[in-house]
Amino acid sequence: MSEKLKSGYQGLKKSVDPKRWSKQKALLTDEKLAIEGHPVMERWETPYMKAFAELVTRNGGHILECGFGLGISANAIQSYHPEEHTIIEANEDVFKRLIEFQQTAAHKVTPILGLACEVLESFNEPKFDGIFYDTYPLNADEQHTHQFTFIKKSYPLLKKGGILTYCNLTSTGVLKNKYDSWKQLFNETQLPHLLEAGVPENDIKGIVIFKVSPPSDCLYFQHKTAMIPILIKDV
Ligand SMILES: C[S@@+](CC[C@H](N)C(=O)[O-])C[C@H]1O[C@@H](n2cnc3c(N)ncnc32)[C@H](O)[C@@H]1O
Repeated sequence: MSEKLKSGYQGLKKSVDPKRWSKQKALLTDEKLAIEGHPVMERWETPYMKAFAELVTRNGGHILECGFGLGISANAIQSYHPEEHTIIEANEDVFKRLIEFQQTAAHKVTPILGLACEVLESFNEPKFDGIFYDTYPLNADEQHTHQFTFIKKSYPLLKKGGILTYCNLTSTGVLKNKYDSWKQLFNETQLPHLLEAGVPENDIKGIVIFKVSPPSDCLYFQHKTAMIPILIKDV
């Protein structure tokens, strides 16, 4: 494996404005999504995305998904018959694909263009039965932490018994090189931030370890397993 792949994807710049993302051209094929030269999403993640979809729809109801990407998890969530499926996407080119998806979806899709954390400001009560967050770090400063900023704002919007899960392979693909196990990685790099974001310890149910097969040229992830965090709102 090349040194570049061993160290994980490091192409993010420091302190660039997240708002620029909306107008960046998206290079979309059936296999890959690249924005601003970043490897944002790849088709090999399909089984992994399906596992997130199965988890987040366990209670049925209204699902909030952040980051449409190639629409893999969105398609999988639809296959579990949500009552409503709200999807937030920040990039305008990808959003066009989301509108096409909405037009043929079997179950109600509510597409919203914008940055997930900003869009959340327009919701004010616990109305989601499941939340799946899978966006992309928009600068180097937030590479390992943007999910926690989102969770702090979205956890109050989860209904009692609701399920929240998230994916940040651009972070964990790098962090996993420093930890022997996913459990250790989760306990040291995720758990403290989740508690700080206001998630009660009792709601943090741990992780599922899922087998994946990234191709050798994938720039952001080169491990044979990946984690699926599980948060369930008890009270
Ligand atoms: C990894 S892809 C999502 C993959 C998707 N789960 C799938 O199965 O194809 C990340 C997506 O999140 C979008 N995105 C990045 N930052 C965002 C943000 N702050 N809010 C909303 N969407 C964002 C990107 O434009 C991209 O479409």
